[in-house]
Amino acid sequence: MLLGFAIVLLTASSLAYLLERNANPDAFGSIPAALWWGIVTMTTTGYGDVVPQTAAGRVLGGVLMIGGILVFALWAGIIANGYAHELRRREFLRTWELVAKVPFFHNIGAALIAEVAQLLRPRDFPAGAVIMRRGAAGDRMYFIIDGEVEVQLASQTVVLGIGQFFGELALLTGAPRNATVVAVESCTLLALDIVDFHGLLGRHPELARIIREEAEQRLSGGPEPQLAEPALAIDESA
Ligand code: CMP
Repeated sequence: MLLGFAIVLLTASSLAYLLERNANPDAFGSIPAALWWGIVTMTTTGYGDVVPQTAAGRVLGGVLMIGGILVFALWAGIIANGYAHELRRREFLRTWELVAKVPFFHNIGAALIAEVAQLLRPRDFPAGAVIMRRGAAGDRMYFIIDGEVEVQLASQTVVLGIGQFFGELALLTGAPRNATVVAVESCTLLALDIVDFHGLLGRHPELARIIREEAEQRLSGGPEPQLAEPALAIDESA
């Protein structure tokens, strides 16, 4: 950016020298002298102590003012973008650490964890927060990183803890949510949006198999899942 700034400044000042040196030899008698006008104009400071006299010199001044605004806008954009990039990187590292902790993802390897970490968004819920309501449309599923949630079915209540997941049924079947899920204590979850859910399951059949098996068990009212580690670890030999 500084180099770009210097090139535009030097070019404009050189042109101003060529256009103005006869009409205004005091201020534009040399390129270094014209640089003062160039920098005052380009930064849109506009002291007004040096003003171009010729029509071409004024046109050049106008172009340089607008160029100066564009250069600073670009500069602000680059800084803001770099800041946002750094924030995204930190967020990714945090998500990566969280994903790596989930037993569900233990055996899938670092490359897949990195892929999954880009798709999952950490969400914190305070105790008592309603995470999803029965009858609502399914838009995402959650993996539990920390804390416990209560799944309030029509007939019973099930508590799910660290490493387990919920909200997958509506995504798999397209039906409305079959339970209301409430945070028992403050909890940290990783959310997977429906589009990413289908993409991920399409790319990784072993993940799809585990989630489908668990979903079928839940739909059939089979034994409630225990805390996830043994139940959800991926069997690579399968
Ligand atoms: P979904 O229907 O999308 O939203 C409510 C969620 O509660 C559901 O997906 C399951 O993830 C979860 N759920 C439903 N039934 C059970 C169950 N029997 N045991 C554990 N979780 C369940």
